Amino acid sequence: MSRIPVGVLGATGIVGQRFVQLLADHPWFKVTAVAASDASAGRPYAEACHWLLPTAMPEPVRDLIVQPVEQMLEYPLLFSALPSDVAAPVEDHLADSGAVVCTNAAAHRMDPDVPLLIPEINADHTVLLETQRQRRSGPGFIVASANCSATQLAVALKPLHDAFGLLKVSVVTMQAVSGAGYPGVPSLDILDNVLPFIPGEEDKLESEPRKLLGAPGHGRIEYAPFEISAQCNRVPVRDGHTECVSVELEDQASAEEVIAALRSFETSPEVASLPSSPPRPVLLSDEDDRPQPMRDRYSEAGMCVTVGRVRACPLLDFKFVVLGHNTLRGAAGGSIHNAELLVTQGYLPRPGVAL
Ligand SMILES: NC(=O)c1ccc[n+]([C@@H]2O[C@H](COP(=O)([O-])OP(=O)(O)OC[C@H]3O[C@@H](n4cnc5c(N)ncnc54)[C@H](OP(=O)(O)O)[C@@H]3O)[C@@H](O)[C@H]2O)c1
Repeated sequence: MSRIPVGVLGATGIVGQRFVQLLADHPWFKVTAVAASDASAGRPYAEACHWLLPTAMPEPVRDLIVQPVEQMLEYPLLFSALPSDVAAPVEDHLADSGAVVCTNAAAHRMDPDVPLLIPEINADHTVLLETQRQRRSGPGFIVASANCSATQLAVALKPLHDAFGLLKVSVVTMQAVSGAGYPGVPSLDILDNVLPFIPGEEDKLESEPRKLLGAPGHGRIEYAPFEISAQCNRVPVRDGHTECVSVELEDQASAEEVIAALRSFETSPEVASLPSSPPRPVLLSDEDDRPQPMRDRYSEAGMCVTVGRVRACPLLDFKFVVLGHNTLRGAAGGSIHNAELLVTQGYLPRPGVAL
């Protein structure tokens, strides 16, 4: 079966490299083009990219010549790992020209007709694509992955919102340095230190989960009505964001019922069958000192969210710890997962069928 040819925008960055790594052995998609800034364009990928992952750079991409993003128009499926300010006009232009863009950038996440998608929790939000295609008067569209911290928070909140209703959420994050891209935070600012500010992050964490857990209707999403207060910190961890979360529930529940809701959270058979779906979206840890980024970030190939320390909260109702891999579940892995959903829902042709 021939795989669908795809292009990766921002392919030399931290998230772009994850795309290249994950797509090397993907059963449906194959990287045939890479793009980055003018500083990289025109050079072979192996020369332009400072490869940061512990596995070797995949052989088939080494000799691809990095292109400027404007030249990616001929590739109908594009994965974007561009900085948000660059992504804003570029992704719109590509989608207006007929491309399907699965993006990690924040630029279009909150556009009313852009699905902010996590297959396990809101696969029905793709209904927005009809409205978006009408706006663009063509087949192209943008589908966005959420902010990395918002992704893992929303996955953990979904079973609780469904079972008991959420009223209030308080979250304090400890975010890995890879979340800032490469070269990211200077080492002398982050070693032996905690930075209690990540520009723009708290706004994203306070708004995106409400769209993710909202209900689709009339060409837009009705945001979930609960409130979120977020405090975001950068910590000297390489990969994996940890979040301490407290929730107030609409319905009364015992700790056992909250644990049971998290443990029994399953996705639809359609989503469960996608190549990148973990066996369970939430992995519940019973150990007192877990989850930990060093030990738990690669659970289920980095695509599940690990929840632990579920217990009563004296201020709100319950509190717990959530961990997710920011460049896998929270970025490249999430976008590839979204594209797989688009294939099964018929928004992209099946592999082997011409685009
Ligand atoms: N890191 C994470 O954990 C994470 C998680 C979720 C979402 N995101 C989002 O994903 C995107 C990429 O993040 P990252 O961490 O991978 O950043 P990064 O390491 O800084 O990589 C940025 C990439 O964009 C390219 N680029 C920069 N300016 C460009 C321009 N003017 N035209 C074309 N390409 C340009 C860079 O190419 P050169 O190498 O040529 O400069 C590089 O390939 C961002 O929007 C970020 O917010 C990141």
